Amino acid sequence: MNPQEAREKIQVLTDKLNYHNHLYYQESRTEISDYDFDIKLKELETLESQFPDFKLPYSPTQRVGGTVTKKFDTVYHKYPMLSLSNSYSEEEIAEFDERVKKALPDQPIEYICELKFDGVALSLTYENGMLTKGVTRGDGVKGDDITTNVKTIRSIPLRLQHKDNFPELFEVRGEVFFPREEFNRVNQEKEDIGEPLLANPRNACSGTLKMQDSSVVASRNLDCFLYGLWGENLPFDNHADALKNIKQLGFNVSDSYERCTTLEEIFAYIKKWETKRFELPLDTDGIVIKVNSYKQQEVLGYTAKSPRWAIAFKFKAESAATKLNNITYQVGRTGAITPVADLEPVQLAGTTVKRASLHNANEIERLDLRVGDVVFVEKGGEIIPKVTGVDLTKRTHNAVQVDYIKNCPECGTPLIRKEGEAVHYCPNQLGCPPQIKGRMEHFIQRKAMDIEGLGPETIEQLYAQGLVKDPADFYTLTYDDLIQLERFADKSAQNLLKGVEDSKNIPFEQVLFAIGIRYVGATVAQKLAIHFGDIEKLISASYEELIEAPEIGEKIAQSILDFFSDEQNREFVQKLQQFGVKMKHEAKEVAQEGNLLEGKTFVVSGVFANYSRDGIKEKVIANGGKVVSSISAKLDYVLAGDKMGPAKKDKAEKLGVTIISEADFEQMIQA
Ligand code: IVH
Repeated sequence: MNPQEAREKIQVLTDKLNYHNHLYYQESRTEISDYDFDIKLKELETLESQFPDFKLPYSPTQRVGGTVTKKFDTVYHKYPMLSLSNSYSEEEIAEFDERVKKALPDQPIEYICELKFDGVALSLTYENGMLTKGVTRGDGVKGDDITTNVKTIRSIPLRLQHKDNFPELFEVRGEVFFPREEFNRVNQEKEDIGEPLLANPRNACSGTLKMQDSSVVASRNLDCFLYGLWGENLPFDNHADALKNIKQLGFNVSDSYERCTTLEEIFAYIKKWETKRFELPLDTDGIVIKVNSYKQQEVLGYTAKSPRWAIAFKFKAESAATKLNNITYQVGRTGAITPVADLEPVQLAGTTVKRASLHNANEIERLDLRVGDVVFVEKGGEIIPKVTGVDLTKRTHNAVQVDYIKNCPECGTPLIRKEGEAVHYCPNQLGCPPQIKGRMEHFIQRKAMDIEGLGPETIEQLYAQGLVKDPADFYTLTYDDLIQLERFADKSAQNLLKGVEDSKNIPFEQVLFAIGIRYVGATVAQKLAIHFGDIEKLISASYEELIEAPEIGEKIAQSILDFFSDEQNREFVQKLQQFGVKMKHEAKEVAQEGNLLEGKTFVVSGVFANYSRDGIKEKVIANGGKVVSSISAKLDYVLAGDKMGPAKKDKAEKLGVTIISEADFEQMIQA
């Protein structure tokens, strides 16, 4: 393609993809299949890498990230990002209303009530319809330029259509948030691989926005609600019109705002959202009441910190004050240490709270906690209450500075803390009781060996009696071992034995997850099982071979190497194998459809539109072909879906192996 053609093609693809993105994210409808969208996106990516000068500033390829920012530039805000003064009662709102009316005598006043979103404040600058800057609030005067990360938030338009009545330069501001469902998804993945969980959506959102690698930001699917417009010569004279118009421009504006003219209407709005707010995809901590008219806002003006034309009303946090009696430390399956606050029991939102998580040593330092302090505990969106602060007025000279433990509270081993990590670990994986029991609990869970009749309490009993020391010992348990245990009867003993026996039919990918290699979650285990086929190949795989497997990065590869370089781990796996646990991947029985692919070998890579990865492999087999895992000169085809790794592509091209698309493949099997 010559440069002129490339430039035109890049323009056409960019416009098309942005149009479809807009339909999808702003209008919730589609006119194109995901497959076609991905193909076009890939085509654009390729062209942009060949002709980087023609890449447009509003290219949709920026949504997937990939840029690494070492340090964010500091940017001064054109308009300072102020805070809101807070109120906590109807009286305070009435006083605010009185102040407003006094400053604007004999004028009708209209308020806009909105929710106060508990995310991370963001300012977006648009110049000539193009997003040019995304900046954090910072200290209100200057913030961090996080534009590359902001561009991955799909509901934020990169370029505006129908912007005619907007000035050339303006800012919209809003609140970025980690949608609760996405937050839970990420935490579920972390739980699977034994990583410490993200504490809460707000902090996680803030941390994500400051990440250096924008592709990680893209993977977290953050979202943003916009709540205001800033600029010179705005074409509207009130806030409600601004909201309506920025929504029409394609910004995500929550529909929860309402026009109120009386205090009663404001109070009714508060009452309504006090409970209804839990239906939203993010946490809210109050409402904001804003004078609607810009002219009136101007008359009211600002104090040094906040506008006089607006006030926040904070929902009553489910909060209580109580004494911190002690700090204890829990040891997780991977050896991660979690400090826990032991509290004087206190009533909070209908339950008695005795303990609260403190996350890690940094959190204790941040709160400047001392044992004996009176602390505030709150229940947020999470189930476990958290300590939010210290009542310094009640601190006594008896309060004791917290010296974070240096040794494991369970086994005494000196703790380690890796550089850049907040969490301390006990490295005594094979000798530390909670780590051993944690590994057994991980082993028996449904997604792993799915052993019925076994649970944490039974594991505790079996471990205490010296009947099991690692999960392989479940396979040596006898009826006589079990029947002598407390709470065990004939039926429960039989059940457990049957559960253990049945687990020998669990497929290899689940076994691989059950073994508990750090960073190997259920999905990664499945990929490894298919790619390597059996445990021997995985154990003997080199670092290079590991990172060649689909979606296996450096961190996982190193963790697998570390795991199998340990003699005890290898013995553990060997024991499982001897007991008859599956250590080989079994492709599902596939009904034969034809023999058009007979004698042909395929490597399957990437994501497909009409098949799952396993599904398309089955299709190859059903048509007489063979699926292999690595690319060699002997290979006939690489069947490439979307997101095929560039290393694979290079290798195939170097060796002269034909690369075919999903559509090519479908043609091949058409009789
Ligand atoms: S208006 C001049 N509206 O609350 C202040 N702020 O204390 C303009 N916030 O960090 C802010 N929801 O990011 C406004 N509907 C809403 C809001 C909101 C949340 C945040 C804002 C700021 C803080 C102000």
